[in-house]
Amino acid sequence: MPLQTITLHINGENRPTTVRASDTLLYALRGRLGLTGSKPGCLNGDCGACTVNVDGWPMKSCLMLAVEAVGKKVTTIEGLHDSPIQQAFVKEFAFQCGYCTPGFIMNCHSLLEQHPDADDQTIKEWLESNICRCTSYIEIEKAVKAVMRGE
Ligand code: FES
Ligand code: FES
Repeated sequence: MPLQTITLHINGENRPTTVRASDTLLYALRGRLGLTGSKPGCLNGDCGACTVNVDGWPMKSCLMLAVEAVGKKVTTIEGLHDSPIQQAFVKEFAFQCGYCTPGFIMNCHSLLEQHPDADDQTIKEWLESNICRCTSYIEIEKAVKAVMRGE
């Protein structure tokens, strides 16, 4: 499949890159642009480790083609810069490993953007799209609520 040059808008910058039509956004981020914070887990939409923010919504970057992201605003974990949800993850002990955490943080970041007053049920349902086999999710919910309270 031929390579084509596209420009992606990532973390506030225009980033030209070269991809095949079948390359996923996750591949372009990690393999072409050196943004390795988004993790490849299942590669089929189940685990959420690859979650980024596209036009304000969480997106599993293994399920989106790089060419589909042209003209959209993409934010990766590298673009957050010590955001309130990152600080809350630290304060609430909301993570254990570096593999699932970037995806959880991006998902929570989008949740706070889309539903700044989310109720408990909404938070639980939103977190269902990310898998961690080691922790209880309780601390992650606490981190989201701490940001909602402005802490
Ligand atoms: S790697 Fe994308 S959802 Fe698992
Ligand atoms: S802490 Fe990352 S998978 Fe459980």
